[in-house]
Amino acid sequence: MENMRKVHIKTWGCQMNEHDSERIAGVLLENGYQLTEDIKDANLVILNTCSVRDKAEHKFFSEVGRIMDLKKKNPDLLIGVGGCIAQQKGKEITKRTKGVDLVFGTRSIHEIPGLLDALSEKSKHPVNVAEHKINTVSYPALRKKGVKAWVSIMYGCNNFCTYCVVPYTRGREESRPKEEILKEVQGLVNQGFKEITLLGQNVNSYEMDFPALLSYLHPVEGIERIRFMTSHPKDLSDRLIDAIAELPKVCNHLHLPLQSGSDKILNLMNRGYTYSEYKRKIDKIRDKMPEIGITTDIIVGFPGETEDDLNITMDALRDVEYDNIYAFKYSKRQDTAAEKFDGHLPKDIKEERLAQVMLLQTEITTKKNKGHIGLTVGVLVEGVSEADKCRLTGRTEANRIVNFTGHSELIGRIVNVKIINANLSNLEGVISKDE
Ligand code: SAH
Ligand code: SF4
Ligand code: F3S
Repeated sequence: MENMRKVHIKTWGCQMNEHDSERIAGVLLENGYQLTEDIKDANLVILNTCSVRDKAEHKFFSEVGRIMDLKKKNPDLLIGVGGCIAQQKGKEITKRTKGVDLVFGTRSIHEIPGLLDALSEKSKHPVNVAEHKINTVSYPALRKKGVKAWVSIMYGCNNFCTYCVVPYTRGREESRPKEEILKEVQGLVNQGFKEITLLGQNVNSYEMDFPALLSYLHPVEGIERIRFMTSHPKDLSDRLIDAIAELPKVCNHLHLPLQSGSDKILNLMNRGYTYSEYKRKIDKIRDKMPEIGITTDIIVGFPGETEDDLNITMDALRDVEYDNIYAFKYSKRQDTAAEKFDGHLPKDIKEERLAQVMLLQTEITTKKNKGHIGLTVGVLVEGVSEADKCRLTGRTEANRIVNFTGHSELIGRIVNVKIINANLSNLEGVISKDE
């Protein structure tokens, strides 16, 4: 099998990008490629990149260097670069990194086979970062077997938060037709998936109305849990809150990125809400669903952020008591509005602020997790634990990781687990006697 076509795909970034890699794999499979985990075994390497923060971009450029060494040993190795850096920096990539054979944008996945053909025909370096609308057409995703699957419901973002590169790398918002989404979800049932996560940068602006989409997908038999991300706080409606409360399969979990507690910073970020507007929504949600898990994203060190602003953010974290947060140092991104703002802060101040925020949240998350000791929770079993093969691992509706001893035939089922211990990152339990 000397001339077997084998592709190795490496992915950075968010779930959206991970899912794009599944679709890249799907498209290549239809064109006679096989996936390989071993990069040395591949004759095509695809790098699916992220540019949300500087660090992600650096990682890519250093990885390219390593792969060029492989190419020296194997001159036939083809290298393709896709994702958000590719979309934004297209031609620059082929210039900066000698040896990249093709570049494709976030909406050109279906064109990869054509790009590969063009490559062999003319020994050119094709670049395709056009913003086609065709991405809303379904093409097959090759998912790893398992319990959970991602499903894109929309692409792009129109919000232009001033720090964020995504509107430049993913283009304008476009929703997939609901019938196509339904067909895909029905297909996932046949492949054994139990949980779906609907993906979009701002699911609340789904064209046909997002709560209605949840009701539309809810009856699919075999799907036990439905999650979604991300919700933009400015667009979170009462109807969505009602849908989460009323539709049993829609998980009691909401990821609602706050970014900052300071109204001054929120305004500079172009987020479209104040802290008190945000908090009123949280109160409404918890009023209806006291058990709901709420998580958020925080950016520290945005241009112009003072110690006072940081303290207001810390107060917000104490006030809301999130179940978990993802906190980031502000990173200056090309093309964004904030790039040109005054008051960019030095790295050490950003690092110091990030450490303060993380320390506070570590306390809050640990306290909240420990609050589960003695409770019985429903856990969708995902697989055996990485650390201990006799242990199963799964998640609660609120997305907490739970580890417990049990038989692997429980994988894919929702079981009741009594929590006996808890720490910062997970809960530990025993299968409830009633099982
Ligand atoms: N559409 C989603 C996610 C966007 S990216 C949303 O609006 O929530 C995920 C997170 O990365 C953002 O919520 C933000 O907290 C962070 N992020 C985006 N751009 C950033 C930047 N330039 N510097 C630091 N963090 C950033
Ligand atoms: Fe970026 Fe804001 Fe769009 Fe999220 S909503 S992807 S943070 S511009
Ligand atoms: Fe995702 Fe990174 Fe692009 S977070 S949308 S892969 S910039």
